Amino acid sequence: MYFIANWKMFGDIKSLNSLNKVLKFSRHKKNNKIRLIYCPPYTLLNLFHKKIKNSNIELGAQNCHEEEVSGPFTGSISSKMLKKIGAKYVIVGHSENRAIGESNLTINKKIKSSINTGLKIIFCIGETLQQRKKKQTHKVLLDQISKGLKGIKKMNNVIFAYEPVWSIGTGITPKANDLKKNIAFLRNSLLKKFRLKNPKILYGGSVNPKNVRNFKEINIIDGFLVGGASQDSKKFIDIVKKTFN
Ligand code: 13P
Repeated sequence: MYFIANWKMFGDIKSLNSLNKVLKFSRHKKNNKIRLIYCPPYTLLNLFHKKIKNSNIELGAQNCHEEEVSGPFTGSISSKMLKKIGAKYVIVGHSENRAIGESNLTINKKIKSSINTGLKIIFCIGETLQQRKKKQTHKVLLDQISKGLKGIKKMNNVIFAYEPVWSIGTGITPKANDLKKNIAFLRNSLLKKFRLKNPKILYGGSVNPKNVRNFKEINIIDGFLVGGASQDSKKFIDIVKKTFN
C-alpha cells in the first residue's frame, strides 16, 4: 500500500520537525509493507532528503519540466535535477496544474522525461464536476491515460492516482460504488488496452483519518495520495493505521 503525502505549496523549514513522528512510526517492523512517500515543495527537497536518509520514507517531487536535463527555462526544474537531489518519484498531471493550462501532451513529455531519468511517476487523472455530471468520467479517464501514456513502452514505473477534481480539498468523497466502478474501469483499461501487468492505482481527494475506513472495502485501491491531511503527521499516521485496523 502506498501512502503519498502531497504537501502542495505548504511547508517551511519548521515543518520538517513534524516528520519526527512519522520517522519513528516508519521504523516499526510491521510497517514495512507500506510505502511512505513525501512530496514536499522543491524548496524542502534537499532538507527532506537529509532528514529521511536511512529510513523507510521515500522522497518525491510535485512536478517537473518536460525537458529531461537542463535548458533555458526560467523557474523550471528538470527530472534529472530531481533525481540528483534524491527524489525517487514525481507527481505528474495533477489537476491543479491541468487547471492552469497543463495539457495532456505536456504531461506525456514529462512522463517520458521522468522515465528516461529513472524516476517513478505518480500520474494523476480525474474528471471535473461538470464532466461527472455529464457522465463523461470514463471517457475523460481513458483520454487522459491514452494521451498521457502515448508512445511509452516502459510503464512499470508509472503509478496511477485517480483524483476526482471535485473531491480535492472539498471534503466530498465519491460513493463507494462509483469509486469501485471507476477504479475497475481504469484497471481494466490498463490491463487490456495498455497491457500493464499489475497496475497500481491509488485514490486521492479529501482522504482523512475520519473517512479512510470508508475506502477499506474498496480492496482494489493500492493506496492514497493525501493532500491537506498529510501536513499533520498525526493525521497522516492515523490514515495509515486506520487503513489496516
Ligand atoms: P486533498 O487531500 O487536500 O483533498 O488533496 C488531494 C490531492 O490533491 C492530492 O494530490
